[in-house]
Amino acid sequence: MSKAKVLQSVFCGFGLAGLLVVGAAGQDITPDASGLLARAGGVRLQVNALRDDVIRVRMWKGDARPEDASWAVIGHGKVPVTAEAKGFATKDLRISVDERLMLTVSDLQGNVLQKDAAPVAWEGNRFTVSKQRGFDDHFFGLGDKPGPLDRGGQAFTMWNTDSFGWQESTDPIYKSVPFFMDVNKGRTLGVFLDNTWRTSFDFGRADEKRYTFGSLDGPLDYYLMYGPEAKEVVKTWAWLTGPTPLPPMWALGFQQSRYSYFPESQLREVADRLRKDRIPSDVLWLDIDFQHKNWPFTVDEQGYPNFKGMVKDLADERFKLVVITDLHVAKQAGVGYAPYESGTAGDHFVKNPDGSTYVGVVWPGPAVFPDFTRKQTRQWWGTLYKGFVADGVAGFWNDMNEPAVFDGPGKTMPDTVQHRIDEPGFKPRTATHLEIHNVYGMENSRATFEGQLALRPNERPFVMTRASYAGGQRYATTWTGDNSATWNHLRMTVPQLVNLGLSGFSLAGADVGGFAGSPPADLLTKWLEISAFQPIDRDHSAKGTRMHEVWVDGPEQEAIRRRFIEERYKLMPYLYTVAEETSRDGVPFNRPLFLEFPRATADGSPYDLTTGGGEFMVGERLLVAPNPSPEEVAPYTIHLPPGTWYDYWTGEQTTRAGAVGTLDLEQRDKVIAQKPLLVTPKLEELPVYVRGGTILPIAPLTQNTAEVPNGPLTLRVYPLAAGLNTPGESCSGEVYADDGHSFDFKRGEFARVKFSCAVGADGGLTFEVAKQEGKWKPWWKEYRVEVVGWTPGKNEATFNGKGLKMTQVDGRWGVTVPANGAAGRVELR
Ligand code: NOJ
Repeated sequence: MSKAKVLQSVFCGFGLAGLLVVGAAGQDITPDASGLLARAGGVRLQVNALRDDVIRVRMWKGDARPEDASWAVIGHGKVPVTAEAKGFATKDLRISVDERLMLTVSDLQGNVLQKDAAPVAWEGNRFTVSKQRGFDDHFFGLGDKPGPLDRGGQAFTMWNTDSFGWQESTDPIYKSVPFFMDVNKGRTLGVFLDNTWRTSFDFGRADEKRYTFGSLDGPLDYYLMYGPEAKEVVKTWAWLTGPTPLPPMWALGFQQSRYSYFPESQLREVADRLRKDRIPSDVLWLDIDFQHKNWPFTVDEQGYPNFKGMVKDLADERFKLVVITDLHVAKQAGVGYAPYESGTAGDHFVKNPDGSTYVGVVWPGPAVFPDFTRKQTRQWWGTLYKGFVADGVAGFWNDMNEPAVFDGPGKTMPDTVQHRIDEPGFKPRTATHLEIHNVYGMENSRATFEGQLALRPNERPFVMTRASYAGGQRYATTWTGDNSATWNHLRMTVPQLVNLGLSGFSLAGADVGGFAGSPPADLLTKWLEISAFQPIDRDHSAKGTRMHEVWVDGPEQEAIRRRFIEERYKLMPYLYTVAEETSRDGVPFNRPLFLEFPRATADGSPYDLTTGGGEFMVGERLLVAPNPSPEEVAPYTIHLPPGTWYDYWTGEQTTRAGAVGTLDLEQRDKVIAQKPLLVTPKLEELPVYVRGGTILPIAPLTQNTAEVPNGPLTLRVYPLAAGLNTPGESCSGEVYADDGHSFDFKRGEFARVKFSCAVGADGGLTFEVAKQEGKWKPWWKEYRVEVVGWTPGKNEATFNGKGLKMTQVDGRWGVTVPANGAAGRVELR
């Protein structure tokens, strides 16, 4: 510490008196194999490369290195770096540190990706990290925060909060995912502040030339993830914190919920009506009223006298049941309420500082709260599901886990509540609620998830959680909480679900129709149209609102709604393939356009960084373009990235040229002649486009995901248009299938088939089926290969060289060929 000097000063940029600003003394850098350790003043800085594109930055005051433990991070590594005069370089990045411990991160071409705008400011344990913000920086991620897709110009706090009726500017809400990415033209840097305390983020609201992040306590520990493309950053985020696992296929089906279906006869009526009206559906949900006096893990025997029999009857109708199991255990001693009694006996509840059990009021009245930071408590919690699992309940809903406490300060637990951390990687120690609050919900969902795995080791768990933290996608899907039945809330579902996806929560949904308030018929219809293309499609509504089910507004509305849900089921092979991709690489189900088109603007920048995020992709092939002002009837413009597109509904082709700047004169004329894609919104229509070059797998309609589709798997080919701005003439696609519910796919019981095709000079099409990967026998026995917008010249077709007849179905020419896992080739002329 001899060289170290501490400077007590006023740092003007923050306007805070008495701040400790790092540095003033000369820098003192010690390189090591994977990074460096530096110190200045009383502060240490450690910068390490986990991979060539992943850097971890830690800073602390004093000599003692803080505990190195994380609830979020599971990706570890170390790569050798090359020491340099002021820092080090990896194969992708250059890091330099100045005498005030200010960091500059650049790529190897010298482009600055991130640069400290000021030394880290400390005030006691509170710290703020400041980075320079440029005009071209756009910020995405941060979990479920409402508001525009781009976080620029706004500030946010992370503090999990029960936010009934939240609105566009409400902050904080339910989740804390302190991960964001800064997309600057073609260069993307992800940033994750791994700190569970109350953290804050400011993307240029206080000072437009800076973005800052910090916390009131806890570790200064952040990770930088370099793309350059945003998609690579999302994948790296999944490497660091884990992807969303493959869900059971039924989780992608249509789901019907309400607070609450009661009694049992009402739930049965809903089930019957769904089947009678042929609304494809997979899941029914039970909210709190099915429980005895709102005590979790009980059933109201008056309302649901034959619970097990009901679950079985629903299963016979191919409905899965998801029930709510809130974490607040009713404080009911001596009445045989097992969760309270076994929890008390095992000392599983969080405590007040004086050692007494903390009690707070939630739905059951006075309740106690499991200490999910303890491994043994999570294991105990998992055992509570035994009865429901034995009854055949398929999935579980962890609500209120911010935690919501009706009589607590700020509607949650007091900051002083004690958690006894007992967790591999952490020192066993007592932490206050201030530290644990933001991970409490995630650890609740983890306990539920791991409990399912213990009870049904070969079934994929389905858990839905309301609160979570970074990495929580490993355990549960999520939803956006108590939204409202308004047009603006419908519009907000898109940026919110897209940002959740970028933050790791690939499988998320918003209450379809809106939770609070009653949607008018056309709002509910439009909502059901858009949600058919969102990851979790669950209709849910609050007590006291009008019923929300698909049929409530009469046959005309119902017919439109049914048509969209049916389309979701026909697209199930594609949607499931997308979910499987997510489970490997973390690239989300719903994507912003810039993720798929990283160089599509005139200057080679990502497409649609700034237009508000109203359009979104489903996987890499489908683009959905809802009305950005969904309540308006005036025509609106759809912006399609350059290339060939097809109207999903009509098959009509449209070719969108790139920006004028990149084109030669002839092409330029075509672009200028190109009319904007103007659509007049209609209640019964939702613009959806297929990217040219796609081979889209489509199934015959089923009424649920357990029903075996009857007929061939359709492989619908959307060829690239020759000419303008098209990179080639090829098309590709794939399909993934397995049993839809077990882990057998990990032992090779899956089918993945890749397809490709090319249009020849004579206008004919060659279509190749690759040999199937995996040993699962999928449901399809045949492929129907059909081409959109194509007319045969000679009307000749062959399969593996043998002639066969071409047919036209709904205007699309094609052939039906056997599918047996072997490679094959179809020629159409
Ligand atoms: C709050 C949840 O957000 C909502 O979805 C649920 O219906 C109620 N709690 C009742 O459980």
